Amino acid sequence: MLTTVLGGDDPAAIERAAGLLRAGELVAFPTETVYGLGADALTPAAVAKIFAAKERPADNPLIVHVPDVAAARGLAREFPPVAERAAALWWPGPLTIVLPRDHGVVPDATTAGQDTVAIRVPAHPVALALLRACGRPLAAPSANRSGRPSPTLAAHVLADLAGRVALILDGGPTHHGLESSVLDLSGARPLLLRRGAVTLEELRAALGEVDTIEGADAAALARSPGLRHRHYAPRARVVLVGEGEGEAAASRALAAGERVALVVRREVASAAKVLRLPDDLAGFGRGLFAGLRALDAAGVDCIVIEAVPEIGVGAAIMDRLRRAAAG
Ligand code: TXA
Ligand code: MG
Repeated sequence: MLTTVLGGDDPAAIERAAGLLRAGELVAFPTETVYGLGADALTPAAVAKIFAAKERPADNPLIVHVPDVAAARGLAREFPPVAERAAALWWPGPLTIVLPRDHGVVPDATTAGQDTVAIRVPAHPVALALLRACGRPLAAPSANRSGRPSPTLAAHVLADLAGRVALILDGGPTHHGLESSVLDLSGARPLLLRRGAVTLEELRAALGEVDTIEGADAAALARSPGLRHRHYAPRARVVLVGEGEGEAAASRALAAGERVALVVRREVASAAKVLRLPDDLAGFGRGLFAGLRALDAAGVDCIVIEAVPEIGVGAAIMDRLRRAAAG
């Protein structure tokens, strides 16, 4: 298959993408978080192509993207008041809401057999134009090979999925650079399954008590199959160290003969290749995955990264860094 890349701001490109999706093909598109690999969420054969292209474990369910809350209500068996509140506050935006699935509408293939469905209204003009033009809910995981850092540029999608996706809509760099927050509202209490741009602090301020997956029991963990899989990892070995400990760790790896990169938020003098990301956490999150991919492309063996404070979006960043380092 030949992969075409077209500018997402061209209405003709949107029409072409919508036609491909209606025909059961795959199209990658930008969202405000990361690029997604889209397929018609209601057609099992189309959804199966996502799992094949990404080499995604079959037990990992997909997020269904819709253009508005009315379309979201049509996918869920129940849409409780807390979901209405969350949707009113954050949609369109980087919040995914997990609700009881309407089995008559959303097929098993999309949710990997879960009794729930994850739904999101993305806040990106290209994503919204595409959803409206094709008139179908779109299942879309991040458009990377399974286990790799999520793509924040069309070039990242091409690097991972050339020949496996019909069309990539290019919308430039994505705004957040980290995936959406995933909030499970299908149980008795809200449970934050994945940290993201909408922070735990914001969710608690608006919705009251919100449990986190860190403190959750096995039953809750079973509600988030994605947590079992390796994620966000570059090819290079990732070493996560405390703030201020980067130079020493980089020196040790250099002494061991490795090609070393050091990722920091401050000015440092080091013999390692230094990638300085913005000091503010939003800027750090925006540049992180692109930075990891660039260091891979530069051929380093070891990436030393200094931890960031776990406040606000820093919690999402640290979640991704721990997973990247867990390889
Ligand atoms: O920002 C995002 O969320 C991006 C853009 C493209 O929307 N999408 C994305 O999808 O990150 P993906 O597949 O890479 O991550 C989806 C996460 C996975 O950890 C998956 O296990 C979880 O959401 N998930 C999906 N459906 C679920 C469900 N029914 N119950 C619990 N977790 C679910
Ligand atoms: Mg992903």
